[in-house]
Amino acid sequence: MSEELFPVPGEWAASAKINASAYDERYARSISDPEGFWREESQRIDWIKPWETLKDVSYNEADFRIGWFMGGKLNICANALDRHLETRGDTPAIIWEPDHPDTPGRTLTYRDLHTEVCTFANVLKANGVNKGDRVTIYLPMVPEAAIAMLACARIGAVHSVVFAGFSPDALAGRIEDCQSNIVITADEGLRGGKKVPLKANVDAALEKTPADTVIVYRHTGGSVGFVEGRDVWWHDAAANASPECAAEAMDAEDPLFILYTSGSTGKPKGVMHTTGGYAVWTSMTHEYVFDYRPGQVYWCAADVGWVTGHSYVVYAPLINGATQVMFEGVPNYPDVSRFWNVVDKHKVEIFYAAPTALRALMREGDDWVTKTDRSSLRLLGSVGEPINPEAWDWYHRVVGERRCPIVDTWWQTETGGAMITPLPGATDLKPGSASKPMFGVQPALVDPEKGTLLKGAASGALVITDSWPGQMRTVYGDHDRFFQTYFSQYPGYYFTGDGCRRDEDGYYWITGRIDDVINVSGHRMGTAEVESALVEHPLVSEAAVVGMPHDVKGQGIYAYVTTNAGTEDSEELRKELVQWVRKEIGPIATPDVVQFAPGLPKTRSGKIMRRILRKIAENDTGNLGDTSTLADPGVVDDLLANRPRT
Ligand code: WT7
Repeated sequence: MSEELFPVPGEWAASAKINASAYDERYARSISDPEGFWREESQRIDWIKPWETLKDVSYNEADFRIGWFMGGKLNICANALDRHLETRGDTPAIIWEPDHPDTPGRTLTYRDLHTEVCTFANVLKANGVNKGDRVTIYLPMVPEAAIAMLACARIGAVHSVVFAGFSPDALAGRIEDCQSNIVITADEGLRGGKKVPLKANVDAALEKTPADTVIVYRHTGGSVGFVEGRDVWWHDAAANASPECAAEAMDAEDPLFILYTSGSTGKPKGVMHTTGGYAVWTSMTHEYVFDYRPGQVYWCAADVGWVTGHSYVVYAPLINGATQVMFEGVPNYPDVSRFWNVVDKHKVEIFYAAPTALRALMREGDDWVTKTDRSSLRLLGSVGEPINPEAWDWYHRVVGERRCPIVDTWWQTETGGAMITPLPGATDLKPGSASKPMFGVQPALVDPEKGTLLKGAASGALVITDSWPGQMRTVYGDHDRFFQTYFSQYPGYYFTGDGCRRDEDGYYWITGRIDDVINVSGHRMGTAEVESALVEHPLVSEAAVVGMPHDVKGQGIYAYVTTNAGTEDSEELRKELVQWVRKEIGPIATPDVVQFAPGLPKTRSGKIMRRILRKIAENDTGNLGDTSTLADPGVVDDLLANRPRT
């Protein structure tokens, strides 16, 4: 089934902005004539001052640098709002759909959004925020999240959005790393009928790392603590602020935002994106991947706390003048028809979501879908993790009634926007394959051990051989870590961390991470992060975490834990450790399995052999490979004998 081919539907081939021959022609031009290609594509942005040099890039350690559209000046917020006022000021920009269908929603036109953003930009200024300052945003999926981000961009402040599911500790670490003096939050979030104590979490975080100002948006009306002199209500501050605020002229390479993401080592990295390249890249990919035309109703179900929410909820759709649904809730509340009811209510034409949600809904049976109408849907998208052919088939056949192409978009926090993806009018689809590179993207496969380039049909480590405008520019505060993490393994190339196969038709099939990062429900989790949370528990002496296959989440978290001598490895302690990790990082890091391990498989030099731990977690114990280099091979027998039943 996985090699089945779904040709571009005739009406798409005829009407889409990019058909198959246009794809070939433009892709070739983007590589052979980048100057000409990007000169045209960059016209989609209103530049205050035109750029002079297309790019200034070197992947070599000695003169390592990445820059695009050098010399250009722009404001991305003005591109997202001001320039639409004349043509579509009264068109809905954000249709906000609340957690519960009986709660009234909100619709903000481009003009409304512009007024709110300018007002809040003045609130930021009044609270001492200047160009270049870092602003932490810890908000639920309410329009104010987009408003706060755009207000920062308007005045040149750098936002750092922290997903509202992260714990106070995780929030504190992120506030501290970027030295942010101001936090924007809400009293509470609401997800699936459950309240999330956002303000209380901020209070707890700020006990560890203080900030001068907290701006609180009243959302649920729940009661919250208030620190005089530090805390400010959003509505009070906004009532005193002018709705007029000029947009700052930003350099193309001025920072736009920092977004923390997990890596294979240590604490999360602050991925930094800049202004000009990101604006061009996100809006271009959004237009072509979704064949977007103003007037169409678009819905990306991602949270603004992740890069998908940054690029394809906030920036690209607004730059492109889209009308979009912003959803506060979850797919299974009040029931598992919720997504499709929202589609029907707002006549959504383009729907973009993560495979994990689809797999969860698929298990509930087709009736929840088929009893809804969905005739408005024209195009479906998938993002965040590999979509297994079964889930692809269900999405295509049941949700899209075989009428909607599926764009399976491969990209990363680091890449800013879609890198390998079908275009609906151009690409024949193979379920499970992200298919072909976006314009300007040059993927390649290298032999993971030898580092040599692989030609033709092959499997290897996925690298990108040259820069693209939306590439991250640095790890905030640690440029050397940026180089070491992405450019040192395979000199001259950007290393993605993913494994990949290229088939005989040149289609790319992402096989998943080949570093110590796991992908849980489309969210990246560093195994090292979970390990360090575990060893912070007073009874834990050592921990090793690996991924395991999981029907819904894609990958689950399997933790091997060695407790201190004399500790009783009880069921109670197991539960406590699970809670501990949730508290330290957040619910997305909840271990699925905790196995107590008196010893871990180590080489004589003390290195943990994760290969063996992975195989045990995957239940692939027939061939554990060579265990002869282990310091104590007996450890493995013990691990095999004491696997918890899951
Ligand atoms: C990692 C990046 C894409 C933005 C949201 C996640 C995996 C992402 C796909 C896809 C297979 C995918 C990769 C990648 N991934 N999209 N369509 N097919 N794998 O961003 O948190 O930075 O995670 O997600 O492993 O490296 P992220």
